[in-house]
Amino acid sequence: PAEYGAWAAEVRRLADERGAVVLAHNYQVPEIQDVAHFTGDSLYLSRVAAETDAREIVFCGVHFMAETAKILSPEKTVLLPDHAAGCSLADSITAAQLREWKAEHPGAVVVSYVNTTAAVKAETDICCTSSNAADVVRSIPADTEILFCPDQFLGAHVKRVTGRENIRIWAGECHVHAGISPSDVRAQIAAHPDAEVLVHPECGCTTSVLDLVSHGDLPADRTRVLSTGGMVDAAAATRAPQVLVATELGILHQLRAVNSGTEFLPMNDQAACRYMKMITPAKLLHTLRTGEGAVDVGPDVAARARRAVEAMVAIGE
Ligand code: 13P
Ligand code: SF4
Repeated sequence: PAEYGAWAAEVRRLADERGAVVLAHNYQVPEIQDVAHFTGDSLYLSRVAAETDAREIVFCGVHFMAETAKILSPEKTVLLPDHAAGCSLADSITAAQLREWKAEHPGAVVVSYVNTTAAVKAETDICCTSSNAADVVRSIPADTEILFCPDQFLGAHVKRVTGRENIRIWAGECHVHAGISPSDVRAQIAAHPDAEVLVHPECGCTTSVLDLVSHGDLPADRTRVLSTGGMVDAAAATRAPQVLVATELGILHQLRAVNSGTEFLPMNDQAACRYMKMITPAKLLHTLRTGEGAVDVGPDVAARARRAVEAMVAIGE
């Protein structure tokens, strides 16, 4: 803790000196979540990036998140402490693939998850995150076909909750969430029969969790599909003795911080995102000392991507 205190004080001092705001996603390591000025889910962090008065944004998250911040605040410098922090889900569709898909379905509206590159966003009509995907889909006229990319599990979930039939879903996935399987769920609910269940819609187990609910094997009032930010709110409110959490392990730090009376357990204790963990305390300090790691998005791509991201940020405001 003494070492943490000195590092945290130096991070905050350098951030002040640079006029920088430090943002951290809920999957970052605990030290970084705690030192950041703002910690949250991807929609929340996009909103903070769009609204901040700071000159510089230091983004502790993965590349597409820093790009999104740059798209929303092009006049600001956005620093990413390690540019190798990618995303297997964002890698599952390229702009060329999306252009081909659009050519096969003229007139369709493209909804892309924010977990995409800026080039894919530039080919998109409206972006979404896990917390607003259903609202984004509902905002599109019912008779208009939708191309939803790149996450197949989020897509299937949105299709289920909106009842939308004319939606085509790309077959991409996040390797971390796809790995949280129906057999993990069966084993964990058998071991913890009284636990509440929180599931991120990117999970490979989302459909089977909801099947368990509809068969009466999991109580509906103790089972929720939520973004990471939604999980933090649910965790703060619960009185359950135990909660099983199906998403990346970093979120457990936030959940435990908001509710010390409940035990939060991972649905799969291997669900760590190696990209998120590439942002280390030492790299954050290096970034603040040197100003290295600026993220750039070409002006044409940025202008086209901005329309799609701003359309998303406006929904639900
Ligand atoms: P949210 O924080 O929007 O729930 O996103 C999850 C995710 O996978 C980001 O990498
Ligand atoms: Fe991408 Fe999955 Fe890591 Fe999120 S957890 S950054 S979706 S690879």
